[in-house]
Amino acid sequence: MAKQPRHFLSLLDLNKDELQGIIRRASELKRMQHRGDIHTPLKGKNLGMVFEKSSTRTRVSFEVGMSQLGGHALFLSPRDTQLGRGEPIEDSAQVLSRMLDIIMIRTFEHDKLELFAAHSQVPVINALTDLLHPCQLLADMQTYFEHRGNIEGKTVTWIGDGNNMCHSYINAARRFGFRLNIACPEGYDPNPDILAPAGESAGIVRDPLTAAVNADLVVTDVWASMGQEEEQLARSKTFAGYQVNDELMAQANDDALFFHCLPAHRGEEVTASVMDSQDSVVWDEAENRLHSQKALMEFLLLGRV
Ligand code: CP
Ligand code: NVA
Repeated sequence: MAKQPRHFLSLLDLNKDELQGIIRRASELKRMQHRGDIHTPLKGKNLGMVFEKSSTRTRVSFEVGMSQLGGHALFLSPRDTQLGRGEPIEDSAQVLSRMLDIIMIRTFEHDKLELFAAHSQVPVINALTDLLHPCQLLADMQTYFEHRGNIEGKTVTWIGDGNNMCHSYINAARRFGFRLNIACPEGYDPNPDILAPAGESAGIVRDPLTAAVNADLVVTDVWASMGQEEEQLARSKTFAGYQVNDELMAQANDDALFFHCLPAHRGEEVTASVMDSQDSVVWDEAENRLHSQKALMEFLLLGRV
């Protein structure tokens, strides 16, 4: 039987050394890119990009990243592929992975992604599911490292929904060795199957101001994720006290950073005063999607970090 490829469906698919190696390599690729170096180790390789949800950063960073590495990327929308007309996921995975060298998927159910990966002969990358968003965490960890150094032993505060980003922060706390305080309204806690194995690394601190005390990094995300649009109004009432504002940032350490995976809604989960402040490094965070995913693709295709 053919050797199973390495996939990146969750941060937990890689060990600590591999993740740290990818982040180091991401910063190196960034310096090379900024210097104008031409680096094309993936010449002749093709990336398939399956998007069942909208995207700006993920689509552009993967497509540009693959092109910078010398390869090619194809955008595959369910609207105009047979995937959207009910061709079985197992069959689609068989066919696509005989033509492509690597595949990224953004979809709703995490199970769908796992099913696809189980039938793929090439590496599959999670480009966001309802459960996890691990690519964003590569960029976030790179960004923290570039601004403040090692995140091990630091305190990170998550404010808002116990969603896919929160879940990936819990996994990151396990792998990178920081403490995660999660402040979310009751009824919006992270999935216990993800939180419980994190042990002391992550825990719920219900009150947002308490959760932010001594934080080295404060992170939030939208109150209603993709697929939850009809809950937007109800959620904006429930989450009203879970806004990252100046009062909350004042609880954190003086040199605390603010992260947001974007897109952001100023006046909802974050005030403009925080989003556009000196503490906020959201544009670096967005740019690092490009460099960290280039490092990830090198790792998965060439076994290199
Ligand atoms: N942060 C993020 O994944 O952005 P997009 O939805 O624009 O890809
Ligand atoms: N939690 C958000 C993240 C968007 C990048 C969503 O799933 O819509």
